[in-house]
Amino acid sequence: MTIHARITGTGGYLPEKVLTNHDLERMVDTSHEWIVERTGIHQRHIAAEDEFTCDLAERAARRALEAAGRRPADVDLIVVATTTPDRVFPSTACLVQQRLDIHGCPAFDVQAVCTGFIYALGIAEKFVRTGSARCALVIGAETLSRIVDWTDRSTCVLFGDGAGAVVLEASEEPGILSSHLHCDGKYEHLLNVPVGVSSGLERLASGEGTIRMKGNEVFKVAVNTLGRIVDETLEANGLRREDVDWLVPHQANIRIIRATARKLGLPADRVVVTVDRHGNTSAASVPLALDVAVREGRIRRGETLLMEAFGGGFTWGSVLMVY
Ligand code: ACO
Repeated sequence: MTIHARITGTGGYLPEKVLTNHDLERMVDTSHEWIVERTGIHQRHIAAEDEFTCDLAERAARRALEAAGRRPADVDLIVVATTTPDRVFPSTACLVQQRLDIHGCPAFDVQAVCTGFIYALGIAEKFVRTGSARCALVIGAETLSRIVDWTDRSTCVLFGDGAGAVVLEASEEPGILSSHLHCDGKYEHLLNVPVGVSSGLERLASGEGTIRMKGNEVFKVAVNTLGRIVDETLEANGLRREDVDWLVPHQANIRIIRATARKLGLPADRVVVTVDRHGNTSAASVPLALDVAVREGRIRRGETLLMEAFGGGFTWGSVLMVY
């Protein structure tokens, strides 16, 4: 019997504090109109000072478990996608495991910036399909606001905090059909945080530990690359564009999302958009968008979803699945 990996529950969490474009107008030289026209973003959520990635991840995870009708004790694998872990170590996945009072199952973080959740899901899917795990918790969680330069108008208007999670279970029914993961490190100079643990931890605190991005150049590569991954994913499954019911894209910029939707020939009402309310929450963006559409009753069981993302590295990837 073939073992499939199927999403049985989704959950999301957004910090209480909302930062609007009008709030940003008071912080940097920008305007609500510019931000909406160039990105589609109206507001984003920002974690409280004493709220960390693990806190967001735990809340999203508990909601996903509840939706799946599972208890923490059922979980036998935890993968957390994050670029903003609470600590150098232990990993955020270990901290989440402790919070959920689970003991002994493998738990680890995956770092692929905005593509992190797609990477994490692609990895967890292999654990489940090969019988190494039966009930995996896959989480994307970020406090990106901590690595944003709030004086740089070209980046600070883009990002937000949040977490999304799914429960991925072994099933006789089809779930994930294929996952496609890629990276090309030659683009690292276009999007990065220039310091880190091994190359200057002390400089992190002095303001150098923030996101640097050549937005315009990232934009062009993102649109082309995401167009190519649509073709790759459909071809791998012998499907046509019209076989896809929903696009659940990474929420970086409404113009990038629309370009990918055009490539798929999907009308706007078949594309999940949360970038207007969430901004770019990096690894949390795809699972948050999925959770919103599932809870609104828009995405239904049996429908085919294409999830995709693009981010720092550059990394990019997709997951095609039957929900
Ligand atoms: N308000 C007003 N003006 C601004 C702002 C702002 N917030 N930011 C930039 N500008 C100005 C620039 O200074 C520039 O002015 P100039 O022409 O006088 O030099 C002008 O607007 C145009 O700037 P561009 O950077 O060319 O604007 P663009 O249309 O490319 O939009 C944006 C910028 C939104 C960043 C876009 O390029 C983008 O979305 N890029 C991709 C981001 C992305 O997908 N990143 C990957 C994921 S993130 C991750 O992995 C962490």
